[in-house]
Amino acid sequence: MVNYTITTATMGERPEITLPNKGFLEALKPSGFMEMINHFYALVLDSDIAYFFPDDEEEIELIKKRNGSYFMMMCGGDERYLTKFGGQFDQIKTHEMFSIPDKARVEWLGCWQIVLEAIEDKVAHKDIQSYWNWLEVFSKHIVNYENDRSTYEDIAKTK
Ligand code: HEM
Repeated sequence: MVNYTITTATMGERPEITLPNKGFLEALKPSGFMEMINHFYALVLDSDIAYFFPDDEEEIELIKKRNGSYFMMMCGGDERYLTKFGGQFDQIKTHEMFSIPDKARVEWLGCWQIVLEAIEDKVAHKDIQSYWNWLEVFSKHIVNYENDRSTYEDIAKTK
């Protein structure tokens, strides 16, 4: 059993994170990991937060590669993210150009839940749990907007 509980983020909090178990990537292997990333982006691009992401397919492919290799690095994979895609990743800076309220984070995590449920027969549940816990806590770092304020993205959506 994996517990996909989502706790509420408070804007500006930066709770300490624990990295996922290496067993998560070891079970999926890089190819399975990238399949999971593809599944996640298919869902996110069809979700209520799709408007955050570019329309251009090539850009999305690049984001998938960068995002996938960064996430694999966090799961104990090699450092290809840094060598291939250049430099450091700053979680806050990468996301600060978007207005991300906690409700967007909850939607984002909801896509992850579906993706992780789909691999429950392939990966040990304790390893999925460790990955979920990392996503759930680390995603709190990028919440930079109050839930009830309308954002530029909300306004764009109604146009
Ligand atoms: C654990 C939490 C998260 C991590 C570690 C993370 C990490 C990343 C990474 C590595 C990329 C690729 C950046 C690049 O191209 O170099 C990315 C892109 C992106 N992320 Fe996140 N992310 C997280 C949560 C979220 C959440 C909650 C949202 C909610 C909306 C979000 C929205 C985006 C968007 C819109 C992009 C595309 C940026 C662009 O257009 O270049 N992310 N993220």
